[in-house]
Amino acid sequence: MVAVSVAMSMSVVKLGGSLFKEGRSILRFLRDFAAERGLSIVVVPGGGPFADFIRKISSSAGISDEASHWMSILAMHQYAFFLTDGVEVPLVERLEEISHTERGAEKAGGGTCVVFLPFNLLREEDELKHSWDVSSDTIAAFVAKKLGERKIIKITDVDGIYDDKGRIIHRIHARDMIKRGFLGCVDAELPRFLAENRMRCIIVNGKRRERLEKVLLGEHVECTEILP
Ligand SMILES: Nc1ncnc2c1ncn2[C@@H]1O[C@H](COP(=O)(O)OP(=O)(O)OP(=O)(O)O)[C@@H](O)[C@H]1O
Ligand SMILES: [Mg+2]
Repeated sequence: MVAVSVAMSMSVVKLGGSLFKEGRSILRFLRDFAAERGLSIVVVPGGGPFADFIRKISSSAGISDEASHWMSILAMHQYAFFLTDGVEVPLVERLEEISHTERGAEKAGGGTCVVFLPFNLLREEDELKHSWDVSSDTIAAFVAKKLGERKIIKITDVDGIYDDKGRIIHRIHARDMIKRGFLGCVDAELPRFLAENRMRCIIVNGKRRERLEKVLLGEHVECTEILP
């Protein structure tokens, strides 16, 4: 008999700082859902109010783009420590730890959920622009790329990207967003990063559990899908 090893499906999820109030309960849900369904979920934290503060003071305090970039990445760490306060989900700082955790869980027949702290990775692989155009959405896509994934799920506080009439755009191409200079609720750099790396981003409302469940299972939900 031939032994076949089936890799767990991995989801790289950016948990938005806009969901500050609900963030911990969403993380708890992601952890439990990963365990229940044998999924591997890597959570990249947003910057939330911590990054907003840096943005607010950056011009008045004369902080350079260079310093603001690293301060904002550390803002993601602050949100990560907030999210995992009282929620048992490991914080990991190295990509190798993720595959290690995944293999262990796979052997035990379970799922995994971790929160990734991006500072070390970005210091070592300093490939993104140091500007306000790059923030946690692009960093989540960068982490996904490094993990060999072609998709990120952005969990935020709206149903997706709205058009100018307030309707949800269900599908949009990153290259069209670039052409039109239209961002909706994503980082300025994200469309370019997705187009260049042939990646997708699904934007889903974190306040709707049934949507989160489906999107993690790869099923169709009310959302916006950004295609390359
Ligand atoms: N066209 C649009 N479609 C959808 N949301 C939009 C649009 N224009 C502006 N927004 C705003 O973008 C917000 C979501 O993006 P925001 O960056 O605030 O959240 P996040 O990415 O979840 O958080 P963080 O950046 O702190 O991680 C929404 O609450 C909405 O008010
Ligand atoms: Mg944002």
